[in-house]
Amino acid sequence: MKILVTGGLGYIGSHVVVELQEQGYDVVIIDNLSNTSIDVLDNINSITGLKPKFEQLDVRDKTELSEFFKRHHDIEGIIHFAASKAVGESVEKPLLYYENNINALVYLLQNIQDKKVNFIFSSSCTVYGQADDLPITENAPIKAAESPYGNTKQIGEEIIQDTCKVNPNFKAIALRYFNPIGAHDSALIGELPLGVPQNLVPYITQTAIGLREQLSVYGDDYPTRDGTAIRDYIHVVDLAKAHVSALSRLLEKKAKVNFEVFNVGTGEGSTVIEVITAFEKASGQKLNYKIVGRRAGDVVEAFAQTDKVNSALGWKSQYSLEEALASSWAWEKKVRGK
Ligand code: UD1
Repeated sequence: MKILVTGGLGYIGSHVVVELQEQGYDVVIIDNLSNTSIDVLDNINSITGLKPKFEQLDVRDKTELSEFFKRHHDIEGIIHFAASKAVGESVEKPLLYYENNINALVYLLQNIQDKKVNFIFSSSCTVYGQADDLPITENAPIKAAESPYGNTKQIGEEIIQDTCKVNPNFKAIALRYFNPIGAHDSALIGELPLGVPQNLVPYITQTAIGLREQLSVYGDDYPTRDGTAIRDYIHVVDLAKAHVSALSRLLEKKAKVNFEVFNVGTGEGSTVIEVITAFEKASGQKLNYKIVGRRAGDVVEAFAQTDKVNSALGWKSQYSLEEALASSWAWEKKVRGK
């Protein structure tokens, strides 16, 4: 069965491709290589023994995209990752974010809306903003987005939902990720941020390897157990498996409605200090860090209620925080040749 993964050479996409191949799916990747390298294709091949089909293609290119679908009319499922994800950059370049994350989604949907295609959308817990109740359920209200990036995830879900309303054959699931971290056990694929990392875990591993001098911990005056902000960090391989489970749900026609959303997290919240401590334990390295002021736009606390995803998808995260951080560290060392 042929499955298209857009952005399939990126961080989360590449891990999903591996899981799909391991479950016997025939994978086609499109990626414009804007935030990754073609080497990822060989690394996927080294893990699974199978080279996925790959076309270098930009989803914003309407003509190329419709040509692609003419060549691949037998695609039964699409997992859509091709998008931009840096919150800070989205504030600086809002139109780029609306073009990459909204225009591209619309073009993709135009090609498939009237077909029997199953669609998985890469959404984010950022749609909840600072939720009033924790853990966060899928019924928590959507809050005004803090950034154009967050807005694209909210609008993206609405666009898909509206498309589902008028096309009963078109079935979609939006997965709202909490904080993906870690790398494949093989250390052959992982996260490779361009420039200075904005996210916590790559900043930690780059500091530990000597690429950055010191980690800044953004705020220790939050109303939490140690004053630092709380997030739900999920191993990327667990997250990847959730995609395969979501796809199976659609293919096996288990969903009663044609648009559903699921939180994908561990259900456990960790403070920034707890992440640092777990990293030090996992790596045997002392981390150089200092406490600085809060980062604008950060929420105090976000962790998932996972009952819905656990029961509907039969999926549950397996890796611990320490295991996830150990895999991030193994990947960082591998990438830097240490
Ligand atoms: C946010 C969004 C997430 C989005 C991601 C994209 C929420 C709840 N989450 O993640 O949906 O996909 O951006 O980038 O809105 N921190 C430091 N020092 C650093 C970096 C981070 O202390 O150098 C802290 C942050 O203040 C935060 C935690 O570490 O408390 C995690 O930060 P980060 O990895 O950037 O992810 P979020 O901001 O939670």
